[in-house]
Amino acid sequence: MADGLVFLKITNYLYTTMAKILTTFVVLVTLQLIVVRCTKTATNSTNSYPAVRAAFGDNIDLNNLLNYANQTRPAYITKDNTGGNVITNSKATLGRVLFYDKNLSIDNSISCGSCHKQEFAFSDTAIASKGVSGGVTARHSMRLINSRFATERKFFWDERAATLEQQTTKPIQDHAEMGFSGQNGRPALSNLLSKLQGVTYYNELFKFVYGDMNVTEARMQECLAQFVRSIHSFDSKYDAGRIQVPNDGPPFPNFTQQENTGKQIFITPPVFNATGVRVGGGAGCNGCHNAPEFDIDPNSKNNGIIGRIAGAGIDITATRAPSLRDVMNRTGIENGPLMHTGNLATLQNAIGHYGTITIAVGNNNLDPRLTPNGFGQQLNFNAQEINSLMAFIKTLTGTNVYTDKKWSNPFK
Ligand code: HEC
Ligand code: HEC
Repeated sequence: MADGLVFLKITNYLYTTMAKILTTFVVLVTLQLIVVRCTKTATNSTNSYPAVRAAFGDNIDLNNLLNYANQTRPAYITKDNTGGNVITNSKATLGRVLFYDKNLSIDNSISCGSCHKQEFAFSDTAIASKGVSGGVTARHSMRLINSRFATERKFFWDERAATLEQQTTKPIQDHAEMGFSGQNGRPALSNLLSKLQGVTYYNELFKFVYGDMNVTEARMQECLAQFVRSIHSFDSKYDAGRIQVPNDGPPFPNFTQQENTGKQIFITPPVFNATGVRVGGGAGCNGCHNAPEFDIDPNSKNNGIIGRIAGAGIDITATRAPSLRDVMNRTGIENGPLMHTGNLATLQNAIGHYGTITIAVGNNNLDPRLTPNGFGQQLNFNAQEINSLMAFIKTLTGTNVYTDKKWSNPFK
């Protein structure tokens, strides 16, 4: 009897085990089938983007996106205004299309890239840039190099955009720039959203990025800001030197003596006498254009440039500058005129401006660092110091950013 019981128990055990194995097998096969189906659907939909293909050819390949998200940057670059909008390859790619699309202007004549040209560090050589229907900008176009790597989160010369996201749809709604102002009978931003909704490559792109075709202002801002933040330039002579030393203080091994002298002048604050005349130290540029990002000090007030490109009166609100990287191109030519007025054609002019600061009537927003002891600063530079400072600022220029395909016009 005891033997029979053991036998029964064993068969029972075998049955349950076999049942378990069978169930697992069935579950696995079903799962496998689901996985195969999903992969198939995914491949099918990512392979066919006929409208994107027709508009951009090989310039945009949604199955093989260019690298915006995982670019390397030096460890000493720590400032970052990304916030929650972390760069992804898909959104930055859509941002690239939007950036270069003339459809974003009322008469299909102007894109962001018309005023922010890659070959000029995403600025413009014209003092005032041309917008729609004979419109011109009120200030000079800004370089968009390393906009991401800054303590200041606000954008525009006068910092009127609280974030880069908010900045990106302002030019579209600017009456003189891209024209969707809703003023004087002009269409508004809502009209642009419907317009883009009718463009087949946007149907495909928005679906690809967001899972549905809806074009919204928030989505445009997200993508345009990612594209702008992706514009990196870290292959300069400065970077090649900076990586070899612990901080900006010591001489860079790859610099000429003149460049190292210029670096000291840039970094070191000036020493003034009782009437604001420099008697020692450097030029103090670093106090407002802070290395190694060379971004603007968020507390900076204006630097004494208070003109307007056109029209009467003064403009004392320009307290921001783009990074001082890539002020010049690789051949030493300025990427465009300088300051919000674009009235200083050269870097030498800009340095000259800081040489003698005038306290103008009505300028109650002049940065106090430029008025030691209540006097407009006089830096008393000699020619050698000016040449050294220029030589140093020239080292802040990169190469790749001017030609890299990922920031180029995909409509060409
Ligand atoms: C008609 C010329 C023009 C067009 C088109 C244009 N911009 Fe600008 N951009 C400018 C000018 C001029 C400024 C400075 C304006 C100011 O500060 O008042 C500027 C400033 C900026 C800034 C601020 C940079 C900084 O460091 O603060 C960003 C970012 C920018 N533009 C991105 C764009 C994007 C994105 C588009 C397209 C949606 C665009 N721009 C279209 C001329 C233009
Ligand atoms: C007190 C702060 C401050 C100091 C110090 C300072 N700058 Fe500036 N800088 C600014 C501001 C603000 C602007 C934007 C001014 C404008 O366009 O109205 C600017 C603009 C510039 C520009 C033009 C940037 C562009 O994109 O057009 C250059 C070049 C420049 N500064 C170089 C220097 C140099 C070189 C020094 C040292 C001799 C220096 N700065 C010292 C605040 C400062």
